[in-house]
Amino acid sequence: MAMANANVVKAAVGSLLLACSMIIIAVPCAKAEISCLQITMQLTPCIPYGVLGGSVPPACCQGVKDSMALVKTTEDLRAKCQCVKDGAAGIPGINYTRVNELPSICHVTVPYVVSPETDCSKVNFAEVGGSHHYQAAEETGSRVI
Ligand SMILES: *[C@@H]1O[C@H](CO)[C@@H](O)[C@H](O)[C@H]1NC(C)=O
Repeated sequence: MAMANANVVKAAVGSLLLACSMIIIAVPCAKAEISCLQITMQLTPCIPYGVLGGSVPPACCQGVKDSMALVKTTEDLRAKCQCVKDGAAGIPGINYTRVNELPSICHVTVPYVVSPETDCSKVNFAEVGGSHHYQAAEETGSRVI
C-alpha cells in the first residue's frame, strides 16, 4: 500500500513537473504581444534574397515593413529580434550581410542588426524613423534618440 502511494505521488509529481515545464515554455509566447509565426510568415519572401541575392521581391519589403509596424514597445522589438535571429540561424547558407541590407533597401528603420552575435535582450525601441515615432523604453533609463 505504501508502495502504491509512492507511485501515485511520483506520477503526480511527474505530471506537475510536465505541466510546469509547459507553462515555462508558454509564458514567453503569451507575454510578447507580437507573434513570431506571423513575423516569420511576413519575412519568408526575403529568404531567397538572403541566401542567393539577386533582386529583393516587393513582398519581402512589404514583409519587412509590416513586421516592423507590429512593434510597439521595446518588449515587442526584443521578441521580434529574437524571432528573426533564431529564424535566420535556421536557414542554411543565409548571408547576414544581405539580410542587414534589407532595411535600407526597403526604406524601413529596423533598430537591430540580425546576427548570431546580437543580444536581443539589449536592443531598445527608441528609434525615430519612417512614419513611426518610437518612444524610448522607460526601463532603460536613457533615451537613445
Ligand atoms: C554576402 O553578401 C554580400 C553582399 O551581397 C557579398 O558581398 C558577400 O560575398 C556574400 N557572402 C557570401 C559568403 O556569399
